[in-house]
Amino acid sequence: DAEKEGYPFFMIKEIYEQPRALRSTIHGLVNDVIIDEAVKLLADADKVFITGAGTSYHASEYFALTTMKLSGKPVIPFIASEYEVYAEVAGSSDILIAVSQSGETMDTMKAVRAFKAKGCRIISLTNIVDSAIARESDIALYTRAGPEIGVAATKTFLTQTLFLSWISILLASETGRLNSNEVAKLLEELRNAPRYVEESVSMSSETVKKLAEKLVPVKSMYYLSRDIGLPVAREGALKIKEIAYIHAEAYPAGESKHGPIALVEPSFPVVFTVPSDRKLEKLLLGNIEEMKARGGFVISVAPQGFNLNERADIVIEVPRTHWILTSLTHTPPLQLLAYYVATMKGLDPDKPRNLAKTVTVE
Ligand code: G6P
Repeated sequence: DAEKEGYPFFMIKEIYEQPRALRSTIHGLVNDVIIDEAVKLLADADKVFITGAGTSYHASEYFALTTMKLSGKPVIPFIASEYEVYAEVAGSSDILIAVSQSGETMDTMKAVRAFKAKGCRIISLTNIVDSAIARESDIALYTRAGPEIGVAATKTFLTQTLFLSWISILLASETGRLNSNEVAKLLEELRNAPRYVEESVSMSSETVKKLAEKLVPVKSMYYLSRDIGLPVAREGALKIKEIAYIHAEAYPAGESKHGPIALVEPSFPVVFTVPSDRKLEKLLLGNIEEMKARGGFVISVAPQGFNLNERADIVIEVPRTHWILTSLTHTPPLQLLAYYVATMKGLDPDKPRNLAKTVTVE
């Protein structure tokens, strides 16, 4: 109990300590000379792959998107357990980035070994110094989130996405897509991440608590977004599945019309993650209308100033920032939502059934 520092569960303690985890990760990043070496390797690589399992896969997908958007360099994200077909097309001028909180996940380790066997260089990002995956990699990078006890990953996701976004920006500078002013501006935004996370939590937590009450009886729901918001939607859906045992599916909002919308009937909950980006906001507004027209119970997690004109049933406002901070501003309310629904159902969010913090079997 002492370790919970007054919080009823580790998960909520870890959600609230995200700003601290981000501060120490930023501190580590700016003082780590090995980052430049990693960025050079990535810039020179023929193909860049990135992999992870569960939440770490979502961080991997986030990196692929930020890197393609900023640096123009294609990145191939894949789920660790699916490594075989990807390793098949990898060669000695390629790089694999392995993302794992624990640095022990067997699926991710298998991917690392398969890529090494093809002559690829490995960059790892783990939260545990000298973890098994870190030891097997050519360059070992570390988030500094501190120990994460809750089975559902929270603070490690935010520190992973911050760390990887930092690399995307440096890579875009290396590839000449961003000039030094743009780089400085974006890195400054990332340095502000701890403050944005604090704001996101304080702006959203009351609305989220009220919403959680409404979701207690729910059996199934959708999490929709586009572009950079998509890995965040996937993370929101994973959280509510893992700890609140609600079936949740995340997919690109534009895909609704190709099948999933068939399930939407009055009061079916649909959570929209709307990144701070005028073009995406406009597109997502169209998707929100689509869901509203079928009577869906629409929840939007969107930046201040996103004009919904009462099209959503519940509006969760988060700070308006550069889109690169979407994971940092939009994930906390989704974590809190899963936490409150779970605890309102009398479940223990720290120890969900059938799940382990670290899975060391294939
Ligand atoms: C387990 C946990 C997940 C986690 C995944 C990957 O399945 O329950 O929360 O995201 O492993 O773990 P890793 O340590 O590799 O990030």
